Amino acid sequence: MSTICGGLFTSHVPGIGKAIAQNLQQDPYWKPFFDGFAPVHQWLAQEQPDVAVVFYNDHGLNFFLDAMPTFAIGAAAQYRHEDEGWGIAFQRPFEGAPNLSWHIIEQVVAAEFDPVSCQSMMVDHAVAVPFELCWPGSDAFPTRLVPIAINTVQHPLPSPKRCWDLGRAVGRAIASWGGDEKVVVMGTGGLSHQLEGERAGHINVDYDKFCLRNLAPDPQALLQHDTLDIVELAGSQGVEILNWIAARGALNGSGTGSVKELASNYHVPISNTAAATVLLQHSDRVNA
Ligand code: DHB
Ligand code: FE
Repeated sequence: MSTICGGLFTSHVPGIGKAIAQNLQQDPYWKPFFDGFAPVHQWLAQEQPDVAVVFYNDHGLNFFLDAMPTFAIGAAAQYRHEDEGWGIAFQRPFEGAPNLSWHIIEQVVAAEFDPVSCQSMMVDHAVAVPFELCWPGSDAFPTRLVPIAINTVQHPLPSPKRCWDLGRAVGRAIASWGGDEKVVVMGTGGLSHQLEGERAGHINVDYDKFCLRNLAPDPQALLQHDTLDIVELAGSQGVEILNWIAARGALNGSGTGSVKELASNYHVPISNTAAATVLLQHSDRVNA
């Protein structure tokens, strides 16, 4: 039986990727953000998950406005990141876990979701930056990838409830997988930010703190705002919190579903974003 050992939630600002490439982790601007990863590194070294199931949004690298799936699940043996114009030069390939991917796809379709299944897929900074943050270094990543893309870009976007339910179905699928992989689920993006228009630079500390406060003990509190409410509250890209909601749903859908918060970090701003990192231990592992 596969188990979910925990959940990792982090912003995916491309500038973080450039800071990693330039070794700026101790620079005064970056240090408060990177310091939030010390407990994450410690935990990952201890848990050594085999697979990361990552809920993220593609920003135009693999999917563009001409054909934008609401949900897409990778089922490739390998994924790669390409130059998106942000100037981040990540070289390491991402090894896939296609058997687990297909099991997840089968189970979520049986649960009446309609994802696009992708046997070929590029992953953008929303996967690459979190992977580099979690597993710094130059060797191959020790953890394989199942990418799950949620449309947070082209309206209409899915509702928070729909993302929560998708996440729960993915969590149940992982729990029913016959393999012995240890899985970490990840939600990337957020917190509040808006990159364009009159409200460019918009940050909402109150809403961010509400999300951080409720993520572990009462994640369904985050479902009280609909998608357009979240755009209003958190900015047009702050709606990336949908990826966090889905990942938290996966923890809820698997095993006992209860979690313990091991670390939480919030720092404003990184680039135009209220940056946050949260680490939740899944209770099946706490009790193991
Ligand atoms: C920024 C944040 C994002 O989530 C993103 O996808 C691109 C840029 C930023 O704050 O610069
Ligand atoms: Fe983003």
